[in-house]
Amino acid sequence: MAILPIRHYPDEVLRKKVPPETKIDQSLIDLAKNMAETMYAAPGVGLAAPQVGESRRLIVLDCNPKDSPRLITAVNPEIILRDGESYEEEGCLSVPGYYAQVARNARIKVKFLDLEGQEVIMDVAGLLGICFQHEIDHLDGLLFIDHLSSLKKSLFRRKYKKLQAQQEERM
Ligand code: NI
Repeated sequence: MAILPIRHYPDEVLRKKVPPETKIDQSLIDLAKNMAETMYAAPGVGLAAPQVGESRRLIVLDCNPKDSPRLITAVNPEIILRDGESYEEEGCLSVPGYYAQVARNARIKVKFLDLEGQEVIMDVAGLLGICFQHEIDHLDGLLFIDHLSSLKKSLFRRKYKKLQAQQEERM
């Protein structure tokens, strides 16, 4: 197992739309394990393969790692039903230091394959539902900042430039 380096915005790998996986091979299983380790170490509540530079249709999530840890590994995840609205603050390991409220669906039904290739269908709401929507976005080259109004986007760009400059000074 290994902790992988996390790619940051505006890295181009974060903007690629990832094609579906056709088989679950050892490289995908190894990647899933390393992604879980990387997510817990960050710490974060979800991670998508493009965030570690891999264009694979794979996400890992654990939205309550302290109180009741439950790792979900999802291959080819897909939202098959959406309902209701939610507006919660989000952040992203690939956009460090920035948080904003994002409009999402309150409840979704997701379909994916586990690492054994078994199809799983889950009804999810709350934080886990938001996590799924955020991580599946990553597989389509989208980031949470893409959901912001144009005014908030320009505020984000200014703030992020400052944050990046501060990080470079520290290095
Ligand atoms: Ni993210």
